[in-house]
Parts: sequence; structure tokens; C-alpha cells
Amino acid sequence: MSGGFVRAGKPADAARIAEIYNEGIEDRGATFETDPRTAEQILLWFEQGYPVRVAGEGERVMAYAAGFPYRARDCYEGVREFSVYVAREARGLGFGKEALADLIAVAKQRGWWKLLSRVFPENAASRKLCASLGFREVGIYEKHGRLDGVWRDVVIVEKLLL
Ligand SMILES: CC(C)(COP(=O)(O)OP(=O)(O)OC[C@H]1O[C@@H](n2cnc3c(N)ncnc32)[C@H](O)[C@@H]1OP(=O)(O)O)[C@@H](O)C(=O)NCCC(=O)NCCS
Repeated sequence: MSGGFVRAGKPADAARIAEIYNEGIEDRGATFETDPRTAEQILLWFEQGYPVRVAGEGERVMAYAAGFPYRARDCYEGVREFSVYVAREARGLGFGKEALADLIAVAKQRGWWKLLSRVFPENAASRKLCASLGFREVGIYEKHGRLDGVWRDVVIVEKLLL
């Protein structure tokens, strides 16, 4: 990735982040979400102070990783759910790993102690990415939700940051 970058996302990236997320939603391989996102919805992440890291090449953002609160209870303050999405055209080129590794670094700086997510069992790229950054597969939630009317399992992944 010569000319590659990873940096904090900014409000000006919101439209590009929505575009990347919407490709992931359309592909039906990553999330139970089916409604496309708007840039305005992504802007709320910045307003809420959620960490958003972006990776890309030249001037173009190709991937983002973001961390969201897991639960509102105080005891879970340091537990965050992450999501990572790469533009279709740029998958398998290392951008996802760059963005998620950077989010891990930022999460540690913030004093958070755990990142977690849920991954469809069939999502080989995501499971490999997580494993390669030290996430542990905790187990499988069976029939955790329906996507397009079909029950889907999810693999829970977690990484302790302590
Ligand atoms: C999953 C995703 C984020 C991975 O990011 P990426 O940039 O494509 O992956 P990278 O090039 O950084 O590769 C990371 C690791 O996964 C491996 N990998 C990448 N694509 C793979 C694939 N299709 N099958 C198996 N392994 C794969 C790489 O070899 C690499 O392994 P290594 O670190 O041991 O060398 C990206 O493919 C994506 O956005 N997919 C659609 C949305 C999605 O599934 N998001 C995750 C929701 S949980």
C-alpha cells in the first residue's frame, strides 16, 4: 500500500463512509441491517464522539473502522462494539486490517478494555481479519436474527485490550 494512510475520520468523510457501509449492507454478508445509511446518519457518530478511523490510498478513503457503546450501563463503559467495512473495489488489500488495527490502538488510548463484534459464520474475510488481530472467537449465537427472512447464526468475537 504505497501512498496508503490511516487517520481519524472526519465529518467530511461521512458521505464516503455511508457509501462503503451501504455496499456492505447490499452485499448481505456482514450485517442484519438492510436500510441504506445517509451521510447525515454517519455524522451523528462524530457528534457522539465515537472513534472512527479511516484507511485509504492517495486521497481516497477505502475503509473505516468505528467503535460504538455496547450497553448504557456504567459497568460496560470500557466495552465497545466495532464495525469495519472496506469498499468493494478494495477488499483483500490490507485496508480493513489497517483501519481495525488503528481502532484497537485508539481504544487502548481511551482506556477501554474490550472490543467485540458479531460476525456471520460464512464471513471468512472478517473472521480471518479478526483472528489475525488477536480476536478470540467466543462462541456462536444460534438463530440470532433473520436476514431477508432467513435465520442466521453469528460468531461472537472479542479482544481484551488490558
Ligand atoms: C471483512 C473485511 C472488513 C476485511 O477487510 P479487508 O481489507 O478485505 O482484509 P485485509 O486485506 O485487511 O485482510 C485481513 C486478513 O484477512 C485475510 N482475508 C482477506 N480477505 C479474505 C477472504 N476473502 N477470505 C479469507 N481470508 C481473507 C487476509 O489474508 C488477511 O490475513 P492476514 O492478516 O493473516 O494476512 C472486508 O473484506 C469487508 O469490508 N467485507 C465486507 C463487509 C464486512 O464483512 N465487514 C465485517 C463485518 S463483521
